Amino acid sequence: MKKRFSLLLLSLILLAGCNNNLSNSSQTTNSVSTSESNILVAYFSVTGNTKKLAEELAKAKGADLYEIAPKIPYSDADLNWMDKNSRSTVEMKDKSSRPQLANHDAHIEDYDVIYIGYPVWWYTAPTIINTFLESYDFSNKKVVLFITSGGSSFGNVIKDLRVSVPSSCEIIEGKKLNNYTKEDLINL
Ligand SMILES: Cc1cc2nc3c(=O)[nH]c(=O)nc-3n(C[C@H](O)[C@H](O)[C@H](O)COP(=O)(O)O)c2cc1C
Repeated sequence: MKKRFSLLLLSLILLAGCNNNLSNSSQTTNSVSTSESNILVAYFSVTGNTKKLAEELAKAKGADLYEIAPKIPYSDADLNWMDKNSRSTVEMKDKSSRPQLANHDAHIEDYDVIYIGYPVWWYTAPTIINTFLESYDFSNKKVVLFITSGGSSFGNVIKDLRVSVPSSCEIIEGKKLNNYTKEDLINL
């Protein structure tokens, strides 16, 4: 009797173990669709809006985070769009301008999907985003853009950025995220 009870108990324990494995494996399967790819969230931000958003996006996606930092930081005067001689105005008027980066350590080769966030400047991406794209090999990568702005949307950014990546790189407009929920970030 004792032996039969022990056998029954052993079977129950084994069954429970199997169930546990099953539920674990289905959890893993569910998360594969988002964790299958190696994801990087890279961002450029001067006044902090895009930085905060990028940090939350990286958390929501379980992604690595990378700051696209300019070699020469932008001063308040540099950002004055009312001044036609300010650094940002001069750079944005010249589509071939390529502000230098502070670092070259984003290791794009390690990622399949790269989210790139930036503040809209003059209805498009700051030209330092072109510098970033041209500084690494984006062949066969998927780039998803996300932005903050005073109200503008993506404008002609795909055209402006395509010149900086190989044709095998897919660039898509993600979302303008001036306001967002956690779901917006997960679904981006
Ligand atoms: C030089 C410059 C140009 C800008 N141009 C636009 C624009 O064309 N449209 C817009 O909606 N906002 C524009 N903005 C506002 C920024 O996109 C907005 O404040 C953004 O959230 C700033 O992001 P950050 O804090 O990450 O730098 C501009 C800001 C600057 C400094």
